[in-house]
Amino acid sequence: MATHRPRIGILTGGGDCPGLNAVIRAVVKSSFRLGYECLGFLRGYEGLVEPVAWTPLNPQVTAGILTRGGTILGSSNSGRFTALVGENDRVAIDPQLLDEAAATLRSLRVCGLICVGGDGSLSIAQQFHEHGIPVVGVPKTIDNDLGATAFTFGFDSAVATATDALDRLHTTAASHERIMVLEVMGRHAGWIALHAGIAAGGDVILIPEIDWNFDHVCRAVLAREAGGKKFTLIVVAEGARLPGGKSVQADSALPAGSGDQRRQVRLGGVGEVVAGEISRRLGREVRTVVLGHLQRGGQPTPFDRVLATQFGAHAVRLVHQGRFGEMVCYSPPDINSVPIATAVSRLSQVAADSSAVLAARALGIAFGDDAPLAGPFAEPPGA
Ligand code: F6P
Repeated sequence: MATHRPRIGILTGGGDCPGLNAVIRAVVKSSFRLGYECLGFLRGYEGLVEPVAWTPLNPQVTAGILTRGGTILGSSNSGRFTALVGENDRVAIDPQLLDEAAATLRSLRVCGLICVGGDGSLSIAQQFHEHGIPVVGVPKTIDNDLGATAFTFGFDSAVATATDALDRLHTTAASHERIMVLEVMGRHAGWIALHAGIAAGGDVILIPEIDWNFDHVCRAVLAREAGGKKFTLIVVAEGARLPGGKSVQADSALPAGSGDQRRQVRLGGVGEVVAGEISRRLGREVRTVVLGHLQRGGQPTPFDRVLATQFGAHAVRLVHQGRFGEMVCYSPPDINSVPIATAVSRLSQVAADSSAVLAARALGIAFGDDAPLAGPFAEPPGA
């Protein structure tokens, strides 16, 4: 009688990021060594329900994908499987869809499903777990905003791209004595803006976690000019709220009624608003670059390849040990796991008193708040 090897399923959900293929490869290679077969579900959770879409995965299929951006399985962050909508409202998945997904996994003899995703996709994984579906989570997002893990993979690659962009803007800004604004991703958290801003020697960093206003941004520009620096590089996270508390939404540019209502609002445009207001106040030419999806594409950095590989191998270990409902996490120097419920209950945001922010301030980087400017452009006491 033919014996069947147990099967592990894997899917990638939400916005893509560099390193997804590295996880897929690690899951496939390590699960084969433990005697499992592997199935990859296509287009995120959608691949689990009618019309069911999956592909067999084996080490031959995944050979050579370690360095490739994107995901060979495809992904989706809207439609029937959506756990986050609007600003950040959590919604329940239709129980009938959960039943369908469970039936698909049973009929395909999948003993454990590895869900690779960010906050939204892991919130769906948690609902699967509560529905009795055997899942294990792997955290990914360029935004690095998932609680319970020191880093998500994708973040380091996004920071590398944003840093490269700032390095390039630096030389042209200096040549033309211009103020230049770079808008980077970061919906709830300013990690990319902070790290790229420090790595590239930016001058002003505006993030969702630190309230800022135009008086203080202009004060920093003028202090630089008074100190002989006629150009300024400003990095702004897409989720940095304007004075008054509102974030800038790209959706507002779409005609009413268009777009998918079952998804999170699209952010974008804060860079242009910042540039416009500085230009109006200082009478200077200010240029904006929006980095957008360039941060999500392309090859993962070596750090992300290593992290993604460790996450994939550890996720298979969790399935093998029957530790469902857990998410792998990075607690330097180790890879561990936590309940998915814990990971999705808390966003990881930049602390205003963190060492990175304090180091940036010590070097004279401004955050657009009322903190005194330090470093070479410090105002004299009492100014
Ligand atoms: O979650 C990662 C992220 O890159 C956010 O920073 C950004 O707001 C969002 O994805 C954009 O998603 P989409 O490509 O679906 O518009």
